[in-house]
Amino acid sequence: MHWKLKAAIQNSVASLPDSLSYATYYWIQRRFGGLKNVNPVGRLQSGLETWQRIVEAGGEPSGKAFFEVGTGRMALAPLAYWLMGAEKTITVDLNPYLKFELIQESLQYMWRNLEEIRGLFGSSLQESRLESLRQLTQGTSFSQDQFLEHCRIQYIAPGDAAKTPLSPGSIDFHTSYQVFEHIPREILAQILAEGNRIIRDQGLFVHHIDYSDHFSHSDSSISAINFLQYSDSQWEKYAGNRYMYMNRLRHDDYLDLFLSAGHRIRADLPDVDPALQTLLKSGKAQLDQRFADKSVDVLSMTGSWIVSGKEG
Ligand SMILES: C[S@@+](CC[C@H](N)C(=O)[O-])C[C@H]1O[C@@H](n2cnc3c(N)ncnc32)[C@H](O)[C@@H]1O
Repeated sequence: MHWKLKAAIQNSVASLPDSLSYATYYWIQRRFGGLKNVNPVGRLQSGLETWQRIVEAGGEPSGKAFFEVGTGRMALAPLAYWLMGAEKTITVDLNPYLKFELIQESLQYMWRNLEEIRGLFGSSLQESRLESLRQLTQGTSFSQDQFLEHCRIQYIAPGDAAKTPLSPGSIDFHTSYQVFEHIPREILAQILAEGNRIIRDQGLFVHHIDYSDHFSHSDSSISAINFLQYSDSQWEKYAGNRYMYMNRLRHDDYLDLFLSAGHRIRADLPDVDPALQTLLKSGKAQLDQRFADKSVDVLSMTGSWIVSGKEG
């Protein structure tokens, strides 16, 4: 679908009253979009990769408390943390997007494809936890609350990661996957400040951020930096709604953000797209002045893991 048509549809749906807007958008995603066929593997993998980043940074995630910003529809990263031995996950979302039918379908997929799931987690899997979840959910009726409680997932929605009810020093890992790009910079600064309050001194922040123009995921006629040609006010007209807001911060902006929060960057692992490098070097990519001074290297990064901790 042409991205401008998609943008027009999203803007119209976002202008509906809240409950009608959420229901309509879900219906569209379910009927025509990414929720047509539920496959939990990608989101379970995001939890696994977060876990691996912690281990690579010298952390020990087993038996620890995770905090996730931006649950989304299925709470699958928290499920992955629990399957690998986390004590619990508190997951917070500004919007109550969690859908029990999607959780059920995800679990059904897992039970139909057990070997794939075992292969995904490898030696990180706690087989006894997988088995206990299967006992609870395969072929028997269960509620969303039973699922969440069994997997030690505390779901807070609506809730703001910039202002949580958690006690100081009560979490070990502060995580998100493809969430930060949807939040304005000033709110991200507040989320990191709140993270500094609720995380233990030796805790880690592990965030994966997608820098690409998300319209390029469903419109192959545009590049991953198509949106960088627009001024902020032009871009606001296309994507300034609750479903597609993107802050367009680049890797260097994110590093500044984490440093400004008083963090030491422990690792950053940007993905560089060679096709974007070629496009940028050819001089054919149009860039708004907001991005004109950025290097080709920075502009050709399509996403990154950033792992950081409180300084000192
Ligand atoms: C693109 S979704 C990603 C969801 C999930 N991580 C996934 O991979 O499916 C981004 C989510 O972040 C949530 N969000 C945005 N701002 C937030 C905030 N300040 N606190 C908590 N959640 C927030 C949105 O409501 C949305 O559900």
